[in-house]
Amino acid sequence: MSLEFSKIGILTSGGDSPGMNAAIRSFVRSAEFNNFEIIGIKKGFQGLIEGSFEHLEMRSVSNILGKGGTFLRSARSRDFLIKEKRMLAYKNLKDHNIDALVIIGGNGSLTGASVFSEEFNIPVIGIPASIDNDIFGTDFSIGYNTALETIVESIDKIRDTANSHNRLFFIEVMGRNSGNLALNASLASGACFVIVPEKEFQLIDLVKRLENNKKRNKESSIVIVAEGNNYGPSYKIAEDLSKVYSAYESKVTILGHIQRGGKPCSFDRILASQLGMAALESFKLKKYNSLVGLVNNSLINSPISEVINATNNLSNDLYRLNKIISR
Ligand code: F6P
Repeated sequence: MSLEFSKIGILTSGGDSPGMNAAIRSFVRSAEFNNFEIIGIKKGFQGLIEGSFEHLEMRSVSNILGKGGTFLRSARSRDFLIKEKRMLAYKNLKDHNIDALVIIGGNGSLTGASVFSEEFNIPVIGIPASIDNDIFGTDFSIGYNTALETIVESIDKIRDTANSHNRLFFIEVMGRNSGNLALNASLASGACFVIVPEKEFQLIDLVKRLENNKKRNKESSIVIVAEGNNYGPSYKIAEDLSKVYSAYESKVTILGHIQRGGKPCSFDRILASQLGMAALESFKLKKYNSLVGLVNNSLINSPISEVINATNNLSNDLYRLNKIISR
């Protein structure tokens, strides 16, 4: 097969997620196997603007498979929103003879990739990586399963102390626009209530659930709160609840960036390895400007333009299941 280009840049952008390193490793090794030259771009789109490039080969990606974070580093580049800065980024690519890009990241990064690709006619392939699992075109984004495990392990620990007292614990998890982490953490940890951005929350619903639980002799309870819910931060929910319902003493735990760190679980390492190679093969098959994803256990490509305009909906079935069994 004749290749249209031979030098591809790769970067990680936005919030890091466990397994990004495994995706870089897989892409670099698959690329070397197919005689492509790979340039690592540091600090995401910011590094593209600043010309922070390094040559990557087989051994540059040794011993990173099991490491959290991203060795290429990442950024939420505000500069990349500015046209003149993107022109600088394009000039840097041309100066280094880089003809195509792989972007590993979430919805914001894919949007940036799409704008850049359209403006300068640069072929891009996206690899979905975000602990939020809110990217359309894949059943799982890299890092989500690891973050879920971290959350559930933390909730299990909190439950030990919750059970020892008559207490209500609010546990706030990440998810600015998506309740995937919160809902699935609730299911996996047996929380009594979950508050997610996709469903409107009213304090009265929580009060009713707690009253009901109390009648059934429930001594302690756990409520999972997704940070992007409609009501507000977990501290506000706890404070407002205490004004109308005081049967429990409330405690608040915000898990924060602990959720983003740590060694990727085996699932994320394998998923990232599959998607890394799929990204390279997408170039060979000229499936440009697409996102590689795993849907129903098959690797597929979806146009990035579609991905960034769609949402990965919360499962209503899981939400209903959680309502029925988590009491
Ligand atoms: O997009 C992933 C994510 O972890 C969100 O869940 C969270 O709201 C956000 O990143 C936090 O980003 P930052 O680390 O930039 O504050």
